Amino acid sequence: MEQKIALIGFGTVGQGLVEILENKKSDLISNYGYNYSIVAISDIRFGTVYDPEGLDVTQLLAEISDTGSFQHNLTDWDALTLIKNCNADVVCELAFTDLETGEPAISHCMAAFESRKHIVTSNKGPAALAYKKMKDLADKYNVMFMIEGTVMSGTPVLNLTSGPLAGCRISSAKGILNGTTNYILSEMENGMEYKDALKKAQELGYAEADPTGDVEGYDARAKVTILANVVMGVPCLLNEVTCEGISAITAGDIQNARENNSRWKLIGNVEYIDGNLTASVKPEMIALTHPLAGIMGPTNAATFSTDLLGDITIVGAGAGKIETGFSILSDLLEIHRLS
Ligand SMILES: NC(=O)c1ccc[n+]([C@@H]2O[C@H](COP(=O)([O-])OP(=O)(O)OC[C@H]3O[C@@H](n4cnc5c(N)ncnc54)[C@H](OP(=O)(O)O)[C@@H]3O)[C@@H](O)[C@H]2O)c1
Repeated sequence: MEQKIALIGFGTVGQGLVEILENKKSDLISNYGYNYSIVAISDIRFGTVYDPEGLDVTQLLAEISDTGSFQHNLTDWDALTLIKNCNADVVCELAFTDLETGEPAISHCMAAFESRKHIVTSNKGPAALAYKKMKDLADKYNVMFMIEGTVMSGTPVLNLTSGPLAGCRISSAKGILNGTTNYILSEMENGMEYKDALKKAQELGYAEADPTGDVEGYDARAKVTILANVVMGVPCLLNEVTCEGISAITAGDIQNARENNSRWKLIGNVEYIDGNLTASVKPEMIALTHPLAGIMGPTNAATFSTDLLGDITIVGAGAGKIETGFSILSDLLEIHRLS
């Protein structure tokens, strides 16, 4: 059966997803029996479009490229009305992240669950601020809350622990969860001062004009909160994760680590031992022998300590149009498999 998809937010990730779906359409049908149609898109910038029979996304992409907005299939429904009234099976919430309130994404998710639609999202807001509420509501309506893209984009972290690692007890997760800060620290290893490395990260598009969310560790803190809730299965609030960023690291600190056969990394850490959860984000001097010490540039990585396999480290992209678009695809395929 064809999976009907609504997209809320049609920026980098939404367009990345559509690119993958279109390019792989025949492989997805022949390899996984997966067929889809995109029935609705709502984006503040481009407008809102709906066709219960399926939209022509190639035409819509051409329209926004030519005119900056959608031209056909327009509706004056707002995003919440669209979510409630459209005939989608799955709503992909791909609008902006607000780590203060989680809105409007939390309302989008709730409207989807209450109208018995699955949610797939790379937006950290709902999962970091209201994971239990979202999961309970999804369970109540017998739909899924899928969030693979919220931690390390398409690199499979959450699905790794719930899938291939199911049966292992995971006592800790320790990761480089923010590519911007890892890039800055890597450039400082190459001899740059912090402010120059930050400027270069901004020029390359790794850091935003206001880099606070990355360099002060807030983005990584949201991901640690998600890991605590999902991987450890322990309710954890964002403000229970202690947080320190990298903005105070100096060239002297870098040199000191080098002399001690170590490297500074911004480490997100969550441990659940003897019923006690501890969660933090802070710069740590990591011994060069540890698998996380070799992760340079904007790459992300996470090490899970398990009872049956020892330590498992996964390394991969933490952001990107196609990489994060893939995270959405992997969750859509999982919903298809389980439906
Ligand atoms: N890009 C990545 O590599 C990446 C990786 C992991 C997670 N994420 C997360 O995934 C989500 C999407 O990221 P993105 O990179 O695609 O962001 P983006 O390029 O900024 O696209 C978001 C789109 O949603 C629109 N929008 C904002 N508020 C909306 C609303 N209330 N209703 C409908 N549309 C709305 C935006 O319009 P305006 O631009 O006019 O505001 C924009 O067109 C974000 O939550 C982000 O944090 C992204």
